[in-house]
Amino acid sequence: MSEETPALHDSPGARLAARVERRWVTVVILVIAVFVVVAAFAGIHQATMPQTRVETINPTRLHLGGEFVETNLGSAVEPNGAVTVRAVGQQYSFTPQCMVVPTDSLITFRVASADVIHGFLIEGTNINTMLVPGYVSSIEARFDKPGDHLMPCQEFCGVGHEGMWAKLRVIDRVEYLKMAETKPRLTCVE
Ligand code: CUA
Repeated sequence: MSEETPALHDSPGARLAARVERRWVTVVILVIAVFVVVAAFAGIHQATMPQTRVETINPTRLHLGGEFVETNLGSAVEPNGAVTVRAVGQQYSFTPQCMVVPTDSLITFRVASADVIHGFLIEGTNINTMLVPGYVSSIEARFDKPGDHLMPCQEFCGVGHEGMWAKLRVIDRVEYLKMAETKPRLTCVE
């Protein structure tokens, strides 16, 4: 390279490019730092604070009284028009075996295990949670169209695990409300 030709990295264009690059590096490092702080805060918060919806229940006394007594299981219309489904999982069945809910309604599933860990999964939806003995699993859903969904227990719970199934039947809201007029708790168990 001759003396007269300025080195490439010393040209005004190269200096400008280097300045812009340094600025972008600072921005990228700041973005990463924000993500690290958010992730650390969320992790520490979750590990040290109780989750807002943790509800405990005595699994050995579900059948004796309270929310999960057998006569209270099934789906019920709340005063605000939403629907609550209460169910129990036990080795090796769900009670009720067939749950019925209306379309176009806010549905809250409240489910408890009477013995070991079971799975609560509704096929064709993203509803998939564990039933941990001692806790109430609560999950909200909304269904647009009528139809049947299978609900296989998806946590290994013993020798009868693969035979543990329930069904969710979604029916038209008008039809459902008509049925609910005469029965306070609805199921589709035949
Ligand atoms: Cu219950 Cu697997």
